Amino acid sequence: MSKLFKFALTVCICLGNYACYYDQEAEQEPVPDVDPDTPISFRSDIEPLFSRNGKDCTACHNGLIQNPDLRVGNAFEALLQGGYVIPNDAESSLLYQSLPGNEHPVTLGFALSTEEISLIKGWIDRGAENN
Ligand code: HEC
Repeated sequence: MSKLFKFALTVCICLGNYACYYDQEAEQEPVPDVDPDTPISFRSDIEPLFSRNGKDCTACHNGLIQNPDLRVGNAFEALLQGGYVIPNDAESSLLYQSLPGNEHPVTLGFALSTEEISLIKGWIDRGAENN
C-alpha cells in the first residue's frame, strides 16, 4: 500500500468514527421543562405512572424483586428514603436518571413518554413533595 493510500484510509476511518459519535450525541433530545403553571401532584400525577397496564413498573419494582418499591402507597417513602430522589435536583436523582426513556439499567418493552419524564423532572425540581 502506498503511504498516501494508508493516510487516506486512516482519515476515512477517523471521520467515520466521528460521524457515528456525532449521531449518538444528536439523538439525545433534552427533556423539556414542564410549564411552570402546570400543577403537579405526586398522588394523582406521578405515582399512577408506575403501575399502568402495559407500562407496569411494579411488575418488578414491587418490594420483592427490585428496589425501589414503586407500588401505590409505598413509592414516595421508597424513593425519598432510599435516596432515589434528591428534592430540587432531578439531574442528580437516580429515579430521573434511570427512567425508562432516559437510561433504565435493563431494556424493557416500554418507555415513559417525554411528557411523563418532564412531569417527573418537574415534581423533583419543585421539591419532591408528598402532595
Ligand atoms: C422487567 C423488570 C423491570 C421493570 C418492568 C422496570 N424495571 Fe426498573 N429496574 C429493573 C432492574 C433489574 C433494575 C436494576 C438493575 C441494576 O441494579 O443494575 C432496575 C432499576 C431501576 C432504577 C434504578 C435503581 C438503581 O439502583 O439503579 C429505577 C429508578 C427504576 N428501575 C425505575 C423504573 C421505572 C420508573 C419503571 C417503570 C416505568 C421500571 N423501572 C420498570 C427492572 C425493571
